[in-house]
Amino acid sequence: MSVSPLQFPVTRTTKSKLEGIDWENLPFGKVFSDHMFVMEYADGNWQHGEILPFGPIQMHPAMSAIHYGQSIFEGMKAYRNLGKEVILFRPELNAQRFIESASRMCMPPIPETIFLEAVRQLVSLDSDWVINKQGYSLYIRPFMFATDEFVGIKPSETYKFVIICSPVGAYYSEPVKVKIEEFYTRAAVGGVGRAKAAGNYAASLYPAKLAQQAGYHQLVWTDAKTHSYIEESGTMNILFVINDKLITPSEEADTILRGTTKRTVLDLAKSWGVPIEERQVTVDEIIEAAKNQTLQDAFGAGTAATIAPISVIGFKDQQFQLPSLESRTLSLKLKNHLEGIKIGSIEDAQNWVQKVC
Ligand code: COI
Repeated sequence: MSVSPLQFPVTRTTKSKLEGIDWENLPFGKVFSDHMFVMEYADGNWQHGEILPFGPIQMHPAMSAIHYGQSIFEGMKAYRNLGKEVILFRPELNAQRFIESASRMCMPPIPETIFLEAVRQLVSLDSDWVINKQGYSLYIRPFMFATDEFVGIKPSETYKFVIICSPVGAYYSEPVKVKIEEFYTRAAVGGVGRAKAAGNYAASLYPAKLAQQAGYHQLVWTDAKTHSYIEESGTMNILFVINDKLITPSEEADTILRGTTKRTVLDLAKSWGVPIEERQVTVDEIIEAAKNQTLQDAFGAGTAATIAPISVIGFKDQQFQLPSLESRTLSLKLKNHLEGIKIGSIEDAQNWVQKVC
């Protein structure tokens, strides 16, 4: 990494928590590294950021983010490769999506260089938290929220941008059972579905809880108007293999989050000559393919979940069992290839990997 003119001041923790970590029993997202990055927006400008010991953030009871939900986030990961270096994977895509989310939520965008430097300097300082163990990584959570102390409704004039890190293993411990949603909605055309806005996740909790009570892990979201087109699955993008074609809902609709893992999967599959269709995907065609056994694979793609095979699709009162995991050659190859690029056992032909330290 070249030396950056943007050097953030650091206040180090006096006692690292690293020694006490039980790596064999690591719950997703509940353990945090030693430091965090904090930067404030005020007087029309982002102020100089700093790295501080990880700890609580004080808030005013009228802080507008908790009343009106002006709050966005990102999810990215740092990995340790076979050469023991710490790397980030396509971090510029997260920086760019953060800018898009901010502008949709009427928040001041963070310039890409500042976002990337903040991530790099924080991960570099906490690099001992990126362990050399298969399936483990350091989940990085940049987020921004409105901090005006005001219960009137208007765009806030002050914000906080924070980055925290959490060492993680697998998000899903088993193949995922999903239910196609026919009533509730994640996002509507003209809404904020494309933004990684906190409220999108809050709105998904109740329908997801109903699906979990019915024995599923997650929902497959459908379009708000007709519930006949597939959009996403839970917190992941969704992809299908039918008759050897890789098919995924197109991002043209502003209801679908532009996932970096999905984009990478499509880029890789394209470079291997796999036929790809990014288009509207109907519920009917997926059910029909499941019935006539041309649905060879279905999987979710996301930063936290990576590539998560779907084992069962529920629709109305029927359940469709998908083919065995061993038969899913394309998603297995994609998963292994992605993993290989990240750990350095497979050439990073597209220059997706960025070394941190
Ligand atoms: C991610 O994959 O980074 C997500 O945003 C999912 C998160 C809600 C755990």
